[in-house]
Amino acid sequence: MSQLSVKHLLGIKDLTPKDIELILETASQFKEVINRPIKKVPSLRDVTIANVFFENSTRTRLSFELAQKRLSADTINFSAAASSVKKGETLLDTVNNILAMKVDMIVMRHASVGAPHFLSKHISANIINAGDGTHEHPTQALLDSFSIKEKLGSVAGKRVCIFGDILHSRVALSNIFALKKQGAEVMVCGPATLIPKFIGELGVKVEFDLRKALLWCDVANVLRIQLERQTIKYFPSLREYAQYYGINKQLLDSLNKEIVIMHPGPINRGVELSSDVADSQHSIILDQVENGVAVRMAVMYLLAGNK
Ligand code: CP
Repeated sequence: MSQLSVKHLLGIKDLTPKDIELILETASQFKEVINRPIKKVPSLRDVTIANVFFENSTRTRLSFELAQKRLSADTINFSAAASSVKKGETLLDTVNNILAMKVDMIVMRHASVGAPHFLSKHISANIINAGDGTHEHPTQALLDSFSIKEKLGSVAGKRVCIFGDILHSRVALSNIFALKKQGAEVMVCGPATLIPKFIGELGVKVEFDLRKALLWCDVANVLRIQLERQTIKYFPSLREYAQYYGINKQLLDSLNKEIVIMHPGPINRGVELSSDVADSQHSIILDQVENGVAVRMAVMYLLAGNK
């Protein structure tokens, strides 16, 4: 049986192209399973998984929970807001207490960059990074690649542009690593203040003009402006941002080309995307959400085999 080269999924940076291929192939098989009338398989029976969320989430958390149920795993859920973290308990103490209950795998979201990497040096359970600050969100990038492959047949050779708040986005960094490892051409587009200075070192193109970037790409992965991570003003107003970087139907129609629109969610409707684009035939946003369950099943199944 093929195995991943890693024990934890901390970031796409650590994966080989073969790891990515294995995850996406396994996810294809699980997608077929979860579309059957009986959606549940016994693959992770007797495996206990804790979902440890120190930051808010809708899609990632529910998707992991559903994926665990489909695999027959036992699960427990931890939310920092309703926990003893509020009484001053440390991250390591919190996780060690969860592990003392005989937990095999931790799915963790944390606001601090490197939090899951820190944990991986201190505990023996498998760890999946469900988003660490502005750093990586590996399962989002994997489900994005799965969705591109499903829609366009392959990721290799495709032109993918990531739009918006690249500076604060863990989705952007994980997608850049994933897309480059699979042979896609990658561009980023947004206001200069939201494009990191090091971005060229990652082998991506930079474009500041929205229309030119849309004309270049096969796939537009549009990101949310992360106001909660911005400590200074990077642009004058959301209205001005929408005027220069918002994608609407009139603009798309004027390009007269096929383009796939993606968004990791949550969408700021009327800011980075208008509703008539988010809900149009160009959009695969809800396919991304559907595919997230199969991709997370694949990741947990493969890591459980890598003790
Ligand atoms: N895409 C994503 O991570 O969404 P949530 O923050 O709702 O999990």
